[in-house]
Amino acid sequence: MLVSLVRSFSRQGIRVPVSRFSTYNALRSNSDYKSDAPNYEHILTESHDKVGLITLNRPKTFNALSSDLFHEINDALKKFENDSSIGAIVITGNERAFSAGADIKEMLNQTFANSYKTNFLFHWGEINNIKKPVIAAVNGFALGGGCELAMSCDVIYAGETAKFGQPEIKLGLIPGAGGTQRLTRVIGKSKAMELVLSGRTFTAQEAEQWGLVSKVFPVGEVLEKAIELGQEFAGFSQPVIQAAKESVNSAYELSLREGCHFERRIFQALFSLNDAKEGKDAFANKREAKWTHD
Ligand code: CAA
Repeated sequence: MLVSLVRSFSRQGIRVPVSRFSTYNALRSNSDYKSDAPNYEHILTESHDKVGLITLNRPKTFNALSSDLFHEINDALKKFENDSSIGAIVITGNERAFSAGADIKEMLNQTFANSYKTNFLFHWGEINNIKKPVIAAVNGFALGGGCELAMSCDVIYAGETAKFGQPEIKLGLIPGAGGTQRLTRVIGKSKAMELVLSGRTFTAQEAEQWGLVSKVFPVGEVLEKAIELGQEFAGFSQPVIQAAKESVNSAYELSLREGCHFERRIFQALFSLNDAKEGKDAFANKREAKWTHD
């Protein structure tokens, strides 16, 4: 709440007294906050000491994911991916909504022929090519494509009143950005089937219990905790963090035998990195490791 309030004030040109927003200011001063002042229409981007933050910013539509908005997310993700000072990325919305999903109004005149010819929603998959860790900080609704976007991230932190769901069935549709696949892999067939075929929402607490969300926090703390987690990831060697992410993700694609083979090969390859030498030497000599990211 503090973060969104401060942002809304600063967008209106209102100066925020330091004492009133101590938590947010603590976050800013602790983490070398930097506004990236981009030309985006539907998102905001900024960085907090090695963590790139993308805030979905279409509040009037519950952050509905229009095509343009998703192109902006992809652009911001690529910029952070190519920025060597950034080690992790957080995606968030506001307190009412992470996102209510694909922009339904934009789909009103969609036809099969057009969606097939243009491979509609294909560009939503670009987040899966990002090698740096991506964390979703979810408050409010994460519905349809919003739930799918959160599930495309590597870790989900949720506020205690967050509501998740795949309600596409109520629109005469099914999830189209991985909802039936990712939900099923994480929470199992019976629960996924029940939720996708009914369109019912589920709570942050259920999502945590089922392993979809890794932690639940009070609403006002989710973003800070997500940024802190990103900073923890960003404090390690970037190539090693990326290798760890790639190896965990391979568990979704490969058999156990293939996955363990893949993991072992990456593990072996990491001995060629200076950072692997540094990490072991630092441990042996009881000192802090200094990562050079090579
Ligand atoms: N697309 C476009 N506009 C949306 C939207 C969406 N997904 N969700 C909300 N809005 C708009 C509403 O049309 C409304 O606009 P107006 O003020 O211009 O009428 C505004 O946001 C406020 O919405 P409500 O009046 O409905 O607010 P509410 O508090 O009563 O309900 C809500 C909030 C529960 C999020 C409800 O808006 C809702 O159910 N939204 C749709 C959720 C949904 O079905 N998502 C799936 C989309 S399809 C998809 O995502 C496919 C896929 O797999 C990729």
